[in-house]
Amino acid sequence: MKKSFGKLLLLSSLTTALVACGGGSGKITITTSSSTSSSVSSAISSSVAVSSEISSAAVSSITSSTATSSTSSTTNLSTPLKDLAEFPIGIAVELDGPHSLLSSAKQKEVVAHHFDQLTAGNHMKMSYLQSAQGNFHYTQADQMVAWGEENGLGVHGHALVWHSDYQVPNFMKNFSGTSQAFLDLVDNHARTVASHFAGKVASWDVVNEAFLDSGEYRNQGNEGSIFYQKAGGKDYIAKAFIAAREADSTADLYYNDYNTEQNGAKTDAVIAMAKELLDDGVPITGIGYQMHVMLDWPSIANIKGALKKAADLGLMVKITELDVPINHSWSGTYQNGTVYRTFTPALAQQQKKRYCEIVSAYMEVVPAAQRGGVTIWGVADHQSWLMGLMFSNEPNDIVWPLLFDKDYNEKPALLGVADALQGKSC
Ligand code: G3I
Repeated sequence: MKKSFGKLLLLSSLTTALVACGGGSGKITITTSSSTSSSVSSAISSSVAVSSEISSAAVSSITSSTATSSTSSTTNLSTPLKDLAEFPIGIAVELDGPHSLLSSAKQKEVVAHHFDQLTAGNHMKMSYLQSAQGNFHYTQADQMVAWGEENGLGVHGHALVWHSDYQVPNFMKNFSGTSQAFLDLVDNHARTVASHFAGKVASWDVVNEAFLDSGEYRNQGNEGSIFYQKAGGKDYIAKAFIAAREADSTADLYYNDYNTEQNGAKTDAVIAMAKELLDDGVPITGIGYQMHVMLDWPSIANIKGALKKAADLGLMVKITELDVPINHSWSGTYQNGTVYRTFTPALAQQQKKRYCEIVSAYMEVVPAAQRGGVTIWGVADHQSWLMGLMFSNEPNDIVWPLLFDKDYNEKPALLGVADALQGKSC
């Protein structure tokens, strides 16, 4: 199994927790402060009492204008998620700015308590590690790796190659030489970075998001990839995998993408590419499903179907960027035509059920030996990448996609993950 960090350390705390809660019920078992809020505990308890069979009609009538996320400033720590799983339980973190992990004691506390794998939300992307050609700098990523080592968390590296404008260094964007020379740049970046972190990362997203939703490679147009364009085709993908493997003989090497949970054309394109790479002897060892999903989309049946296709190839399968926003909008329409302005107990229960069903689907479909783990894309609701991205005409507090509220209190969603990990029904 991939649990290489912290298992022994955690055994004693798990035992304590199990004794304290009478058998790992997922209830609150450990408090770091005698002032752990009874209002938080009772809010969670009363939330749990709400039927998980809440009709969408009833929910869609909820549009109160008062935000109700917990106002407690204490953190309640239930049985560590990582102790409930035989695979890595990961979390994406920021390493600078207002949401920086290492400058927040509370964030460090909940991350170290519940998770055993870190992903840098940004700081291991190309523009951060090689801002100018040949100028590699690892300071913040190294700090994260070191903090992880000290606290029993491993690292999933993200990402060696990704076309997204923000994270591609200018020297690559402006490159005007031959395809071969560009492939050499890709090789050098993947090789140098993978070599630097060899032995310190469990796995890499080697190539991220090479396909359009249609299943075509990102070639031309607004959504085109400079990697495809400047390399003169898809060869940069194999190049990056080979370089990463030559630099790091043990890390799992993933292809990672979004909207592949839908089990549609893009899923099939990724699976076909993986088969082709395997046939060609290219060292891909896993497929990552980002899993930026919604409360009601895609269906669990589609998620299972998509995960199964990767599992059937015999590859590792990882949920790499899970989040479940309450409201969603990419084009000005809201869920069920309604925007929820209050994070009600009923919505919290819907979200709990959804997290539970997704993790359960993963465990049902992916054989134990092929589980690369489940990573949540961000710690607390107010830190999510979705904040500000959605609903620019609304107050930015209506997405609530993660496992912790803005005060780092555990949400019912966290208990949903815990339920799934323990094989409980959702
Ligand atoms: O750090 C700068 C700051 O100095 C500057 O003042 C500010 C003004 O724009 O920007 C800050 O950088 C932002 C950065 O996140 C750190 O917060 C960038 O603008 C912003 O574009 C960047 O967004 C990241 C995005 O990837 C693009 O790289 C998100 O945090 C990150 O969560 C998101 O993650 C991606 C995965 O890598 C791939 N899958 C999709 C996922 C969500 O988009």
